[in-house]
Amino acid sequence: MMQADTEVHKGLEGVIVSESSVGFVDGQAGRLVYRGFNIETLAARSNYEEVAYLLLYGHLPNQKEFENFKATLRSTMELNTDTVDLIKSIGHKAHPMSVLRTVVSYIGAKDPKSNSTDLKDQEEMSLRIMSKFPAIVGTIARASKGLNPVRPDPKLGYAANFLYCSTGSRPDAEQEKIMDTCLILHADHGSNASTFSALVTIATLADMYSAVTSAISTLKGPLHGGANELALETIKKVGKPENAEQVLSKMLANKEKIMGFGHRVYKVYDPRARILKGFAESVTHKNGKEVLFQTAEQMEKVMISKLGEKGIFPNVDFYSGMVYDSLGFESNMFTPIFALARVAGWTARSLEYVKDNKLFRPKAKYVGEIGPKDYIEIQKR
Ligand code: CMC
Repeated sequence: MMQADTEVHKGLEGVIVSESSVGFVDGQAGRLVYRGFNIETLAARSNYEEVAYLLLYGHLPNQKEFENFKATLRSTMELNTDTVDLIKSIGHKAHPMSVLRTVVSYIGAKDPKSNSTDLKDQEEMSLRIMSKFPAIVGTIARASKGLNPVRPDPKLGYAANFLYCSTGSRPDAEQEKIMDTCLILHADHGSNASTFSALVTIATLADMYSAVTSAISTLKGPLHGGANELALETIKKVGKPENAEQVLSKMLANKEKIMGFGHRVYKVYDPRARILKGFAESVTHKNGKEVLFQTAEQMEKVMISKLGEKGIFPNVDFYSGMVYDSLGFESNMFTPIFALARVAGWTARSLEYVKDNKLFRPKAKYVGEIGPKDYIEIQKR
């Protein structure tokens, strides 16, 4: 029988590695909680900046705290010319996630405080990163299309500024509300892969820029944040509702994963997907792209009929891409938009973890040869 200390928990599935009071995912009940608030309540009544404050500081801000928080974010929201030049120089040829990773790392390299392990400095770095994210991601969106940057407007909120820096036009109230809600829905999600990456990095007492750079790198993969881009591609490939059964059956028979379905924690419908589905229906209707939504809805029915028993349902990435597509974003921008939101969770959980720090150092079970083998000189091998 296998001994307890040599049991391998692949992917750390089910292993509890930290305590947190930032947020909670109930995968059986389909419930997502930020600091005690249901995600549905925050999506309906709050806004992203307030939610970021809640995640970082543990309570909803009063008026004065909120004004101070917004003023702090807005005081450092502009990008320096060299940062803009860096984005322009690589933004049209690299994937936006690679550009985002590079830019956060670059800004960190220039921050004289980035060698500090002081908690107050780590908090300041968190706010500085967050404050610049709308302009960074917006400028990347424009650079990827060869467009000149648009400077952020301090009168606009986080979501509106991102839309402004991306499109060059001030969003209407509906566009702002949709983007803001998408950001709230993506702001935090338990001990997911990118958040865990951030924790591993901050636990070495590296700086917050390094932690966020690690998190961005991890979010990029198609099994995590990158799924939203591929989910929309699959919906477009299916093309119309009548094709869903045949295309999905073939993909499943080939053992392909259908992006936007399944989750390590949720074994029921992802509550974020439910809200995004409502937005997807309304925006596709408004933009004459109803067929996309109808196709997705039929794909959902087929997938649930085939894999619902296994706990496979749409996740946050299935409908989000359709919403961003309808707001005019190219699919390679979907994961950077995820990062634009998740920066709140990454920094909140990193600050929380490092306050009661413990270096991560798991073990790997050695399954190689024990030896000792003879060393043979290279000429004789
Ligand atoms: N399509 C088809 N089959 C699936 C899917 C899917 N999307 N997801 C899981 N399964 C099957 C899988 O083939 C396996 O079947 P079997 O038991 O016959 O081997 C079973 O369900 C368990 O899957 P798993 O991959 O071992 O489970 P996991 O907990 O490691 O996977 C997951 C979680 C998210 C990696 C997986 O569901 C997946 O690859 N989904 C597609 C990618 C995706 O949408 N990712 C976004 C996740 S939500 C946002 C985020 O966190 O970034």
